Amino acid sequence: MSTKTDYKILVAGVGSIGRRHIKNLQTLGVKQIGAIDPSFRNPTSKNPSPSFGGVGFRPSLKQALKEKWDAVFICSPSSTHMKIALDVAKTKTPMFIEKPLSHTLAGLGQLQKAGQNIKPIMTGYNIDFHPQFQKIKALLAKKTLGKVWGVRAEFGQYLPDWRPKTDYSKSYSAKKALGGGILLDDIHEINSLYNLFGPVKKVFGLTAKQSNLKIETEDYVEAILQFENGIIGQVHMDYLQRDYSRHLKIIGEKGALVWDLGSAKLDLFPAAEKKWQTIDKIENFDWNTTYLAEAKEFLQCLKAKKNPSSGLQRGIETLKIALAIKKSVCLKIDN
Ligand SMILES: NC(=O)c1ccc[n+]([C@@H]2O[C@H](COP(=O)([O-])OP(=O)(O)OC[C@H]3O[C@@H](n4cnc5c(N)ncnc54)[C@H](OP(=O)(O)O)[C@@H]3O)[C@@H](O)[C@H]2O)c1
Repeated sequence: MSTKTDYKILVAGVGSIGRRHIKNLQTLGVKQIGAIDPSFRNPTSKNPSPSFGGVGFRPSLKQALKEKWDAVFICSPSSTHMKIALDVAKTKTPMFIEKPLSHTLAGLGQLQKAGQNIKPIMTGYNIDFHPQFQKIKALLAKKTLGKVWGVRAEFGQYLPDWRPKTDYSKSYSAKKALGGGILLDDIHEINSLYNLFGPVKKVFGLTAKQSNLKIETEDYVEAILQFENGIIGQVHMDYLQRDYSRHLKIIGEKGALVWDLGSAKLDLFPAAEKKWQTIDKIENFDWNTTYLAEAKEFLQCLKAKKNPSSGLQRGIETLKIALAIKKSVCLKIDN
């Protein structure tokens, strides 16, 4: 389906991800983009950089919402998503909300109710749009692995390397009140498992601060999930590994599959052949293509007035899983 592009879109939060979405919307032909961001509160004294060509800054959300927008992209720190989304919902405007949907469960029911007739509301899970993720979905649908028994997902990367030009200790990732911590920062892995295997019945997890990074949030997570269909998942997340480490391993009765997201390589071990084989490899994979495809899907849903698969409900379910991991109780060994 082609995308309509004569939309007027407001971007709330013009940091790292907000800038990316602005560029991608412009690439997709959207010309009328407005923005709000406390760092650019006064657009006359602090002009948007040239890369924001054509973006008109508004002084506040309240002021911006006096205008009619076709959609709002919420790209501010995680702890601000819910309040902005609820304000936007009052104007019945479609929205794209960056992951995680929020940092607590507060307001979820209210947003669900207010958002019933707003289409689309999308949660920003760009990995869904990775061509190799889609290949994995297709392989599972074809039952290439037969019955799946279990799955393991891992993400680890040293937080100070995420954005070397900024001070990580001042980022939202470092602050509890802003919804930081590796569990919510990396809710992507939980979403990928949810997307592949569906709802989760039980979780057990441990979150900890293992390092001396200057952050007040957790830097290490181990979690075990039991899906409603019986599959058992294991998720590891950390802010600590010096090498970017991101993998997904699926174990099934007819073999196993390993996706190395760092090298964009997909390996399959068919039980019948007893040999690993690389079934897909993308040289120099450009991650922006996933964000571009995600924005394109949003614009298509906007045109068709429908919700995407990673809609509000996905955002809610995945957030509930993440927060349950944090809340889960560990038993102390008796002396
Ligand atoms: N899908 C992905 O792969 C992905 C990647 C990165 C980030 N994200 C998500 O996107 C969100 C933002 O992350 P980021 O890395 O872009 O953070 P960032 O670089 O810190 O940018 C956030 C921007 O939002 C501004 N802001 C703060 N409160 C606001 C409000 N109430 N209204 C509007 N703007 C506000 C901040 O201004 P001040 O600095 O002045 O406070 C800052 O300029 C987070 O929820 C994060 O989890 C998703």
